[in-house]
Amino acid sequence: AFVIGPSCVDVMDKSCIEECPVDCIYEGGRMLYIHPTECIDCAACEPVCPVEAIVPAQKVTAEWKPFQESAKAMFDEVGSPGGSSNVDVLTDTSFVAGFEKDED
Ligand code: F3S
Ligand code: F3S
Repeated sequence: AFVIGPSCVDVMDKSCIEECPVDCIYEGGRMLYIHPTECIDCAACEPVCPVEAIVPAQKVTAEWKPFQESAKAMFDEVGSPGGSSNVDVLTDTSFVAGFEKDED
């Protein structure tokens, strides 16, 4: 599955949502989350993000790792809604809610 990382936080460009054929990119309060098992690895979302926030699981770095775990924790709770159009905006994980963005 693909993973959205720190550069999405408080940016939420949302171009990625339109590209996903299975609608597995879910909106939270500060960022978007890719469903780790609904994602079919089509990679369509990766190039459209203007802040390069989306990476495949194999390329997850130490910086991305807590975001990968955060998405997993999110959907362990929410389950598999089968598409973001089936749910309201999700409540960010506590990690994402408390994440302090490095503005450089
Ligand atoms: Fe975020 Fe990039 Fe999508 S900023 S909402 S991952 S297009
Ligand atoms: Fe959708 Fe991106 Fe996965 S477009 S299927 S979230 S690789």
